[in-house]
Amino acid sequence: MATPHINAEQGDFAGAVLMPGDPKRAARMAEVILDTPTQVNDVRGMLGFTGTYCGEGPHYGKPLSIMGSGMGSPSIAIYATELFRFYGVDRIIRVGTAGGISPLVDVGSVIIGVGAHTTSSMNELRIPGTHFSASADLAMAAAAFQAGKDIGVFAGSIITSDHFYFTIHGQLDAMIAHGVLAVEMECASLYGVAAEYGKRALGVLTVSDHLTKHGHDMSAEQRETSFQEATRLAVAAAFC
Ligand code: HPA
Repeated sequence: MATPHINAEQGDFAGAVLMPGDPKRAARMAEVILDTPTQVNDVRGMLGFTGTYCGEGPHYGKPLSIMGSGMGSPSIAIYATELFRFYGVDRIIRVGTAGGISPLVDVGSVIIGVGAHTTSSMNELRIPGTHFSASADLAMAAAAFQAGKDIGVFAGSIITSDHFYFTIHGQLDAMIAHGVLAVEMECASLYGVAAEYGKRALGVLTVSDHLTKHGHDMSAEQRETSFQEATRLAVAAAFC
């Protein structure tokens, strides 16, 4: 039975779903890391695929789905809710990009979003009178961290912003002072939905640009390599 935003049948999704923001990225990832991927969603062009993992190692042959999330907290909350509620999905790993904030990270760094501050009001509504703590699944974060030791993966707090082009005066300095590693637009929302349904979520982020270190843009090749590393870490988390 279809949901408002996913026209798949029950059983069409694997228990684990990797979620890039861009649906075309989902299609490319499915081509590269899935054997015989089947397209399971195309509503609003939000392409989703299911197949078996074809990378080397212990996870070869395991069922895995990949679907785009779109941009921003409301978009990922819609897809995560429908996947958790109606399709038996029990873990979602966002594989996305982020803008670097901390001087410790560079363009090309890979970050595990352990906790996500947010400017979004979506999690404010969850527990009345409470500033919700949006946190990743610890076992999945640990698995991704272990898999990323060889590339010097970062793990820590990020911020999920509702704005791409607007920063509140003083916010960036305060974030640097509080050790925030990077800014993106979906993780806090995803973690909130996972908590609501008792499911597991994680964000593995590639730093695609840096808000305070300028002139370090990634080449197309560097972008692809970093994204492949982030995907490898996400797969380790998906099957932990
Ligand atoms: N802001 C928000 N999201 C992002 C950014 C950014 O600068 N870069 C990549 N994703």
